[in-house]
Amino acid sequence: MKDRGVSRIEGIDVTPEMLDRARDRGIYESLAVGDIVSTGLEADRYDLLIASLVDEHLRDLQPLYGEVYRLLQPGGWFVIVGYHPHFLMKGIPTHFHRATGEAVAVEAHVHLLSDHFKGGSDAGLTLREFHEGVIDEAWAAAKPRWAKYKNEPVSFAMVWGRS
Ligand SMILES: C[S@@+](CC[C@H](N)C(=O)[O-])C[C@H]1O[C@@H](n2cnc3c(N)ncnc32)[C@H](O)[C@@H]1O
Repeated sequence: MKDRGVSRIEGIDVTPEMLDRARDRGIYESLAVGDIVSTGLEADRYDLLIASLVDEHLRDLQPLYGEVYRLLQPGGWFVIVGYHPHFLMKGIPTHFHRATGEAVAVEAHVHLLSDHFKGGSDAGLTLREFHEGVIDEAWAAAKPRWAKYKNEPVSFAMVWGRS
């Protein structure tokens, strides 16, 4: 990313093991254990924030969007990528597999996409882009067990701006 003008990348996660995996990428200047809704990072400093596959683990979205607004410098951007609430509402939470093969679900909360719109707008951000992804051929090829959900919405991405 540095060859595309990115000068410094920082990361935060509440789980040290996930930060270890991020460290293996070799792209982060700093990686800190912390809560995404209360980072303790400096206000008005960041020109781009990205939250990936975390919102469903938060009980409430308002603190997330409030913290994003606090951290962004005016003119900054926030990209949020998430697991579509459609699958949570079908009773299929995000989960991982232990080395033994056992599937372990992580506590998850349903946030409607309109909850995101309200959360970001109430925090003072402006929604600039909004996309939803469905299970398509590429998904089914990568994860054959999901082929039976073809055409169902599995992901969303929003781009927010702070004026
Ligand atoms: C599905 S993983 C996604 C990891 C990574 N962001 C990615 O996109 O590959 C969900 C992550 O959210 C983290 N998480 C859950 N609640 C959090 C919170 N309040 N603050 C920071 N991280 C949190 C978990 O520790 C876990 O690493």
